Amino acid sequence: MSTPTDHGFDTKLIHAGAAPDPATGARNTPIYQTTAYVFKDADHAARLFNLEEVGYIYSRLTNPTVAVLAERIATLEGGAGAVCCSSGHAAQIMALFPLMGPGTNVVASTRAYGGTLTQFSQTIKRFGWSATFVDFDDLEAVEAAIDDNTRAVFCESIANPGGYITDLDAISAISDKAGVPLIVDNTTATPYLCNPIEHGATLVVHSTTKYLTGNGTVTGGCVVDSGKFDWSASDKFPSLSQPEPAYHGLNFHAALGGMAFTFHSIAIGLRDLGMTMNPQAAHYTLMGVETLSLRMDRHVENATKLATWLENDPRVDSVSYAGLESSAYHHRMARICPKGASGLFTVAVKGGYDACVKLVDGLELFSHVANLGDSRSLIIHPASTTHRQLPEDQLEAAGAGKGVVRISVGIEDIKDLIADMDQALAKATA
Ligand SMILES: Cc1ncc(COP(=O)(O)O)c(C=O)c1O
Repeated sequence: MSTPTDHGFDTKLIHAGAAPDPATGARNTPIYQTTAYVFKDADHAARLFNLEEVGYIYSRLTNPTVAVLAERIATLEGGAGAVCCSSGHAAQIMALFPLMGPGTNVVASTRAYGGTLTQFSQTIKRFGWSATFVDFDDLEAVEAAIDDNTRAVFCESIANPGGYITDLDAISAISDKAGVPLIVDNTTATPYLCNPIEHGATLVVHSTTKYLTGNGTVTGGCVVDSGKFDWSASDKFPSLSQPEPAYHGLNFHAALGGMAFTFHSIAIGLRDLGMTMNPQAAHYTLMGVETLSLRMDRHVENATKLATWLENDPRVDSVSYAGLESSAYHHRMARICPKGASGLFTVAVKGGYDACVKLVDGLELFSHVANLGDSRSLIIHPASTTHRQLPEDQLEAAGAGKGVVRISVGIEDIKDLIADMDQALAKATA
């Protein structure tokens, strides 16, 4: 990576991966709105296609604007390389793609975004892959679920929607022992609050749609590779450790070492799955990411104040936010995400389902949307929306039972958020 590693996090947020445009001097990263790039000559073209030289061929594979964002996120996560994708869901498929084959499985946490639970329990079956879901607080169950066909372990650092914190050190010790990579979805925490690679993650995935962009403008995703996993230590990952027939027999690990996963993801993943981020989306995310630390501090501050206020309100049964001392996950904060537990939590309202729906309808400043990580405060009732496809036991395990709403606290004035919540709770529980 060309970015100095001794820069502080806030400096990296603004500068990592970027330099004034060599052609024009443009200080901000231009939006390279082009599909293809002129080769210098036939030999140059051949070297690019052979991965003997790094450069631009076609924007389904790489684009200079998107490349700046990929390097920025890789730097923030402390990874060797990264590949940006069209959405967070695309990033999850892209992370699994080089690892999996028909008959293999991923061991995944029951506490995850509802869309992920459905993607893993239903859609990946079409590829001949499967998922085994386990409670990641039960370390023996995680270890027992890994079998000879397991190719990855998957969890969220801070899980959506319940804000549960995963013990990444304990989980990575188990995946290391089994010789399989740990993939951590760091969407809710962001690299400002949590560094999964420091806790043993092999790959980190993001929905850049959320806090990294931070203003609800574009969808995007990213897969960061730590560069630390030894793909050749077993015969489990032939796409990376053996001649790859999909790329004229190239052995990615032998040829590219710690960048094998990233190059495989670009040269084969993006080439054939086409889940590419467009340069406009990369531009919006580059603008957003510059203020990540400032925003996350305010998200955490507002979430802590609102969650505390709600917890003490008689119209509320309980609040699930690891930032509260009452949370069973609070003790993990100091080790996994010392700067805070993000801006996402669930609230069980007295009156159950009916009260939840009335609360959502009664709010005026909070927006009722299927998104999180926006500068605006957002609310949703997961059981009837984002987690709707799940059976009751999966809903409860994910922390998305029928009687809870999920709140993504924005960066507005906290007094206005509390006032809005107060009036809506009055209507919901009248
Ligand atoms: C934790 C988490 N991971 C992944 C995703 C999927 O991201 P996207 O909507 O960008 O595909 C989401 C979406 O809500 C999410 O909350």
